[in-house]
Amino acid sequence: MRKLILYIAASLDGYIARTDGSFDWLEHEAFALEGEDYGYSDFMQTIDTTLMGHSTYKAILGMDMPFPYTDKTNYVFSRSSHEDTEQVQYVNDDPITFVKQLQQQPGKDIWLIGGGQLNTLFFNAGMIDEIILTYVPFVLGKGIPLFAPIATEQRLQVTETQNYKNGFVQLRLSQAGTTGGA
Ligand SMILES: NC(=O)c1ccc[n+]([C@@H]2O[C@H](COP(=O)([O-])OP(=O)(O)OC[C@H]3O[C@@H](n4cnc5c(N)ncnc54)[C@H](OP(=O)(O)O)[C@@H]3O)[C@@H](O)[C@H]2O)c1
Repeated sequence: MRKLILYIAASLDGYIARTDGSFDWLEHEAFALEGEDYGYSDFMQTIDTTLMGHSTYKAILGMDMPFPYTDKTNYVFSRSSHEDTEQVQYVNDDPITFVKQLQQQPGKDIWLIGGGQLNTLFFNAGMIDEIILTYVPFVLGKGIPLFAPIATEQRLQVTETQNYKNGFVQLRLSQAGTTGGA
């Protein structure tokens, strides 16, 4: 079955964007590492589909660059209806049912881009097969959290860690299927 993978970066205090949605702090000049993409290009070879919450899609559209995932099938979740575009298809159906069906279809793995609301939905349903989380040594104090406060308590298993010279730390985690601090 196609895996659902959350590949994402967060500040040290667990935020994926400032409250206004900006994430320039991810690309602070102090973090520049020549030729390093934190496994992104290899990861992109393994997926053919992306999933985004509507806020994340709008944040991507607001970036000063062309839409970056034109060679993928892109789904945007919203509770209201919108016209599909050349780049994305909007989904109004229940996200859990929709993704379970998607996983039954043939294809490569599926990238859950985010953001926090969508992450939490799939996390609470125990559906995220792998989390590839890059921690950035930057404290924001406030912002949009990686998981919303409605996230259920769960222990995760770390399957791999990688340290980068700029202080980034990448964890690969899986949902261990247990609750509580055990
Ligand atoms: N650091 C990183 O690597 C990274 C990665 C991804 C995203 N981000 C940032 O994360 C921020 C957005 O995160 P977020 O948590 O605010 O929002 P989000 O999860 O991206 O999107 C929330 C929206 O998704 C739709 N939605 C949520 N639950 C739904 C459901 N059950 N059924 C159907 N649609 C549903 C709703 O859209 P409607 O309002 O249209 O109904 C909701 O407003 C952005 O600023 C983005 O830049 C950062």
